[in-house]
Amino acid sequence: MSDRYAVFGNPIAHTLSPRIHAAFAAQTGQALTYEALLAPLGGFPEAVAAFSRAGGQGANVTVPFKEEAHALCDHLSPRAEAAGAVNTLKFAGDAIFGDNTDGVGLVNDLTGRLDLEGKRILLLGAGGAARGVVLPLLQQRPAELFIVNRTAARAEELAARFATPGVMRGGGYEALEGRRFDLVINATAASLSGDLPPLPAGVFAPGAQAYEMMYGRDTPFLAFARGEGAHGSDGLGMLVEQAAEAFFLWRGVRPKTAPVMAMLRAC
Ligand code: ATR
Repeated sequence: MSDRYAVFGNPIAHTLSPRIHAAFAAQTGQALTYEALLAPLGGFPEAVAAFSRAGGQGANVTVPFKEEAHALCDHLSPRAEAAGAVNTLKFAGDAIFGDNTDGVGLVNDLTGRLDLEGKRILLLGAGGAARGVVLPLLQQRPAELFIVNRTAARAEELAARFATPGVMRGGGYEALEGRRFDLVINATAASLSGDLPPLPAGVFAPGAQAYEMMYGRDTPFLAFARGEGAHGSDGLGMLVEQAAEAFFLWRGVRPKTAPVMAMLRAC
């Protein structure tokens, strides 16, 4: 029998993860199944326990359960601890190990095109999506990581958690006036409602990159970035890269991501 994996979320119907993991399994010759499972909003721990009892080996976790997954784990990787959220579970007997591959997924996608060392990075948002990527971004040794948020205090709090004097700062959007960045990452939920975070003109340095964590559609952020002369990309690469890192944690084999990206872009 094949080893079983799954992704838990609510909603979960539109997830691309089963297709991504099926492609990784075929490419690496691993015998496994990967399914999408809808967990009830009040019943995430029970759904995970039932899957583990039924022979599940591991799982991914998506919205809105990443914080609950963090609380559920017996052991955590340092990056999951720093993120305060877990997107990958690995079952070992009765114990659950939790990891967070979102941040490294973003970094792996970005570093395919851009060396982050010495760069000025602007991170928009201070919620779960932003928190998950701070540590892996800092590990790339940028010259600056500036977090801005609509509610400035949340950005200041998030920046203060990481002791990196001179590199990291948090604040509100008004602090961006007259500042320029080499990379601007949108980790806000603004795109979900078709909104643009209140970015001033001139925030992109010449040749800058804009990264939208959402994928699958053009957003006001990407349109704004293009208008300002920046190169934009959506979060499909991050999705595939975080999946590859989870696959590696479970199977000890690192799949190639480029063919899977090409397959998804072609659909
Ligand atoms: P997630 O886990 O997806 O990050 P979240 O924790 O609810 O979700 O955080 C959403 C983020 O998007 C927050 O940083 C939020 O800003 P506030 O903390 O000020 O609420 C940000 N956000 C949502 N809508 C926004 C908008 N229209 N413009 C700018 N930021 C927005």
